[in-house]
Amino acid sequence: MAQDKKYLTTSTGTPVSDNQNSQTAGAQGPTLIQDVHLLEKLAHFNRERVPERVVHAKGGGAYGTFEVTNDVSKYTKADFLSEVGKKTDMFIRFSTVAGELGSADTVRDPRGFAVKFYTNEGNYDLVGNNTPIFFIRDAIKFPDFIHTQKRNPRTHLKDPDAVWDFWSLSPESLHQVTYLMGDRGIPATWRHMNGYGSHTFRWTNDEGESVWVKYHFKTDQGIKNLTNDVADKMAGENPDYHIEDLYNAIEKGDYPSWTLYVQIMPEEDAKTYRFNPFDVTKTWSHKDYPLIEVGRMTLNKNPENYFAEVEQAAFSPGNFVPGISASPDKMLQGRLFSYADAHRYRIGANHTALPVNRPKVEVNNYQRDGYLRFDGNNGGAPNYEPNSLNGPKEVPEAKPASYEVNGFAEAVGYDDEDHYQQAGDLFRLMSDEEKDRLIETVVDFMNPVRQEVKERQVQNFYKCDPEYGRRVAEGLGVAVPEGVK
Ligand code: HEM
Repeated sequence: MAQDKKYLTTSTGTPVSDNQNSQTAGAQGPTLIQDVHLLEKLAHFNRERVPERVVHAKGGGAYGTFEVTNDVSKYTKADFLSEVGKKTDMFIRFSTVAGELGSADTVRDPRGFAVKFYTNEGNYDLVGNNTPIFFIRDAIKFPDFIHTQKRNPRTHLKDPDAVWDFWSLSPESLHQVTYLMGDRGIPATWRHMNGYGSHTFRWTNDEGESVWVKYHFKTDQGIKNLTNDVADKMAGENPDYHIEDLYNAIEKGDYPSWTLYVQIMPEEDAKTYRFNPFDVTKTWSHKDYPLIEVGRMTLNKNPENYFAEVEQAAFSPGNFVPGISASPDKMLQGRLFSYADAHRYRIGANHTALPVNRPKVEVNNYQRDGYLRFDGNNGGAPNYEPNSLNGPKEVPEAKPASYEVNGFAEAVGYDDEDHYQQAGDLFRLMSDEEKDRLIETVVDFMNPVRQEVKERQVQNFYKCDPEYGRRVAEGLGVAVPEGVK
């Protein structure tokens, strides 16, 4: 058999003689079980799907480069941020949150903005959204919240009543709901939106000094959004519009880029700031903590294979590098568990060895075996520690910075119940036209929900700003709240 010619094989490499006709007992007879090529083909096909992501199922991704443009080494010892001009390969995946794998790109929903930096000290994942805030601020509420965003268990239809019932009973959502119902709720393309780390993180420098940090990726393409009408039309005509837009831009060399900024809060400020700076439903004032430029991310290469590189991509907010660590944000803390757990279920215990997830540095540890261990499994190297066989050793310098905690171990909420000020500020910041569109969108989304839910949510909006509450109430035809406190 000529080895230089590409010929069709089974998955074990033996030549296939016929890929169009199955073996049968006589020309018109039943199919034979001895046709192992047919069996393999059908059986493998049955196993083509892995579970879609439980959230953020629909998305697209690209490779790129991150380049440092400003010296931030006094804040963090992270090697990939250590000097101006330093370049690091990265991979990004954009997504919608609630819809299934085949759902439309132009729906009103936050967009995922998940970045993997392949640094010299291992992978750093920044798994953010295109919004600087979130709907809830404790991980324990996440499964309930997502159930309301998915399908009704009886009708299997999207359920606006569940959505607004939950939001109206969780007023910490008001800031993000106002953001989502506003113009930025439907980005024109992924290239025309910002990305945010949303949570507060911790940066630590070479001297062991730490600061709190928030990340902002600002699009260099400018912000562009879609109106409801255009988005609805696009959802019917081209449900994959955002995937297509990114793919085509990169293919024709029109590489999109984002400038990364951070807000830095001195460690001590957190104790006395006017609200809890670890509350992911709040933004930090830019006057108090102005944006500091860090670098530029440019996307310049499409994946070769969607399933291998995008569907199997696994991002985790727990993937830190020395110099960057978690804050006590209760949402972030829950996420540190959730993602790697989801990956083990979705793609398996050895998902970190897949090409898109594999770090560019050597991986040395004592974990072994498991399904689909397709690398050398560390050969004959020792698989236990401590050992006197020169196995991989700990790196004490990589110890994450400590911080002081106090109080009682108990289930306890945030002591700050002001869910209204920042949501109201966002409303007041809008132009008249933006407000008109916001109210129209909220009323449109809330129309099908129960009267009780409408009334409760209108009161919440009223507490943000009386004009906000009054206009939604009028649009819905419910009583205008008076003097709600
Ligand atoms: C995806 C859980 C909050 C951004 C996911 C996945 C899970 C999850 C299980 C699927 C992972 C996978 O199968 O690969 C949670 C939990 C949260 C939470 C438990 C709250 C406690 C957030 C927040 C953000 C966010 C606040 C943004 C600031 C994302 C993104 C993805 C994702 C971007 C998609 C990652 C990708 O492209 O593969 N989340 N999430 N999530 N989440 Fe969250």
